[in-house]
Amino acid sequence: MWRQLKFRVPDVVHFGIDTVKQLGEEAKRLGAGKVMVLCDAGVAKAGVAQQIYDVLEGAGLSYQSFEEVEPEPSIETLNRAADIARAGDFDVFVGLGGGSSMDMAKVVSAMMTNQGSVQNFFGVDQIPKRGKPTIMVTTTSGTGSEVTRMAVFTDKQANLKKVVAAQNILADVAIVDPRLTLSLPQSVTADTGIDALIHGIEAYIAVNASPLTDDLALKSIAQVYSNLGTAFAAPGNLQARYNMSMGSFLAGIVLNNAGAGAVHALAYPLGAEYHLAHGKSMTVVLCETLRLESLACMDKFANMAQAMGVDTKDMTQWEARDAALDAIEQLMKAVRLPTTLSDIKADKSLVPQWSVAAHGERRLLGNTPRDLTLQDVEEIFYAAF
Ligand SMILES: [Fe+2]
Repeated sequence: MWRQLKFRVPDVVHFGIDTVKQLGEEAKRLGAGKVMVLCDAGVAKAGVAQQIYDVLEGAGLSYQSFEEVEPEPSIETLNRAADIARAGDFDVFVGLGGGSSMDMAKVVSAMMTNQGSVQNFFGVDQIPKRGKPTIMVTTTSGTGSEVTRMAVFTDKQANLKKVVAAQNILADVAIVDPRLTLSLPQSVTADTGIDALIHGIEAYIAVNASPLTDDLALKSIAQVYSNLGTAFAAPGNLQARYNMSMGSFLAGIVLNNAGAGAVHALAYPLGAEYHLAHGKSMTVVLCETLRLESLACMDKFANMAQAMGVDTKDMTQWEARDAALDAIEQLMKAVRLPTTLSDIKADKSLVPQWSVAAHGERRLLGNTPRDLTLQDVEEIFYAAF
């Protein structure tokens, strides 16, 4: 089949132990001066932020930090950070943390060079100009935000997740230093790690998957699947953390190039309704969504089963598909994630309204291997109880 392909990654990626030390030189190369660091209170408390400040000071750079990013940041917090950023006249923006802090940094930087309300930025490529230079330093192994052009926010008024997907917010530099993930609490390791697994899975079966992403996706699935349990059970195991960082980084790249799908779409209304962490809002619908989608790409489910260590040699396609789903469920339970809507005591009467919201996520629903109708989406939600 003849296809046109596009592959997008940040200009520079530093991956590996102690790569955080590259931050100063990269910030200077990008024109700093003055750096704004965006992170959350947890990262500051764990001492990770201090490591970054030390690197910046060591490079002779001045910085100001905003340590108030909350999970799934609100538009209000985004605007507050942007006001501080405008007053500070910074040259470079550093997002330090999980997806929330990196998403904030990407969009705050864009708000320095683009006029108008952030409400105009939601959707696909609605940011006309690149922002000030950005460096993403990830402290989790999951969201992939360091290498994606996506940013997710909570619109509290509308009780909705809103997504910016714009080439102009892709970071200039990504730094993935596995040592920074050592202090992650177990629940965050599980929640973000499963997000990485899902990025690999959704990108692998996506309509926009390509030969450029397929092998990377399978590699990311294998890496995350075989290391998440160890990283969860033995948080100080640096080899497991390294492997998780690699798996999540690869998953981020395939997410950015092949895209996510129905699992993310179905999770958005749940995350907004129950204020669930991103990973948990997906694990509760994951297996039922994949089960319905699988009919369109059974061969890919057999490949994923193999990537997760299942010997599929003597299996039928159906058995291999079921083995893949069983393997995923086993891992989710082992790292104490909820696997059904009953686990989170969800309200069944809300299924019709969630279904309309999820089905309306065309960017994601248009990327699923099986064409999902509104009835299909309802069926998934009911089956997930
Ligand atoms: Fe995700």
